[in-house]
Amino acid sequence: MLVHIKDLIEDAQKGGYALGAFNVHNLESILGVAQAAVRAGSPAIIQVSESAIKYMGLKPTTHIVSTVAKNVGGNIPIALHLDHGKSFESVFECIAAGFSSVHIDASAWPLDENIKLTKQVVEVAHTRGVWVQGEVGSIVGGHGERGGKIDIPKADPQEVIEFVLKSGVDTIAAAIGTAHGTFENEDVDLELLKQIKAKVKIPFVLHGGSGISLDKIKQAIKGGVNVINIGTDIKIAFSETLKQTCKDNPGETDPRHLLSPSIKAVEDVVHGKMVLFGSAGRYPSASTGI
Ligand code: G3H
Ligand code: ZN
Repeated sequence: MLVHIKDLIEDAQKGGYALGAFNVHNLESILGVAQAAVRAGSPAIIQVSESAIKYMGLKPTTHIVSTVAKNVGGNIPIALHLDHGKSFESVFECIAAGFSSVHIDASAWPLDENIKLTKQVVEVAHTRGVWVQGEVGSIVGGHGERGGKIDIPKADPQEVIEFVLKSGVDTIAAAIGTAHGTFENEDVDLELLKQIKAKVKIPFVLHGGSGISLDKIKQAIKGGVNVINIGTDIKIAFSETLKQTCKDNPGETDPRHLLSPSIKAVEDVVHGKMVLFGSAGRYPSASTGI
């Protein structure tokens, strides 16, 4: 069922586990996430980037996610979130379309400009009961990228504190050593996380969750990370499986036969994250009997 993100995050905070926020790109990846949530008995955040919305269309996105959440998810709570909204206009469109949470990412701007734009979004979003995620210190890399070493700048903790106080955001993302994609030198700076969490009490969102070691993810959750974004691992599972299926079945003409293994591959990857994040088993599902 489709729920407000605040219900999920509040429960995760009480339970001491992290929620996965999973980037989707099409019907098949939405199905993969929902099937994983049911199989794991886990809440899930389904998130879309501006480019995913451009690909699927805003109305189809909201309608497909809410239909799948209701008809596949059943009693499992699923929330819809905009990831890395870059402008007031695109964020506003998602608020109007019924998202319960939006990310305004003005982290590339100077701090005062970032605060100004984020505050404008917060004012509008809160009149509609929508939560807002802000970001300080840009997360480098790109969804789906795979590389060696990359320069990974980190956020200034004082700027994060000032940003949260002045902008009024509900959740905060900050650059603490991870990158979008998978890179050799990605890490979670636990000391920086500690400094931020000592002063910032709103939920913390870790971007760039793909490519981080399992142990570091566990330590980050212990250190107060409440939401972990996963994009690249989903893209890779989907695409590598699709490429292999096409290679193995050169004569196949039915798209359903070519795409079904990719749905399962997304389901498996997301299920593994739910177990790792500790969100599995929080919502026993009638269909799984967990
Ligand atoms: O905004 C989405 C996430 O931060 C995805 O990061 O592609 O490294 O998993 P990732
Ligand atoms: Zn991100």
